[in-house]
Amino acid sequence: MKMKAVIFWMMVGWLVVVATVGGQEVAVDELTGLKMAPGWELVRNNCVTCHSAKQFLQQKGTRETWRSVIKWMQGRAGLWPLEAKVEEEILNYLEANHGPGKEFRRAPIPANLMPVNPYASAARKEAEEKEKKGEIQRVKP
Ligand code: HEC
Repeated sequence: MKMKAVIFWMMVGWLVVVATVGGQEVAVDELTGLKMAPGWELVRNNCVTCHSAKQFLQQKGTRETWRSVIKWMQGRAGLWPLEAKVEEEILNYLEANHGPGKEFRRAPIPANLMPVNPYASAARKEAEEKEKKGEIQRVKP
């Protein structure tokens, strides 16, 4: 009996080590679908009240994008004011787990590969003319 207990606790210990050292995999909360990474409880408490976490699980954004989403929701959607520290921790979570990543957007298509734009405004045509003459420079994206 004692031996079994020893083996049991050794296995538990091994599992804990595997879970913490083994990989970057983070457990997912079954109820909300949120990754249980640092700060996830704050996100659950503040962000999964009015809509489900699906509202943002698929979204990616920089810290500033997320900040603006929060501001927008506070102004238009009834999100309550957040303590500065809480907001920062929520942003840390969103930035770390829903950041832009490498494949956020493709690079813009170079202008010389774009078709002629029949709807180009007079202002744009004028700017393109000036650019050709070297009077102004295109701002690189
Ligand atoms: C008081 C209610 C409320 C809370 C709390 C709330 N939201 Fe929202 N949120 C809304 C509403 C309302 C919308 C708009 C839904 C719609 O009609 O698309 C929305 C929309 C969104 C969107 C979609 C914005 C877009 O570009 O379409 C995201 C992302 C989002 N919320 C994330 C969050 C996060 C992150 C939190 C936690 C900081 C949060 N929400 C907390 C009410 C709330």
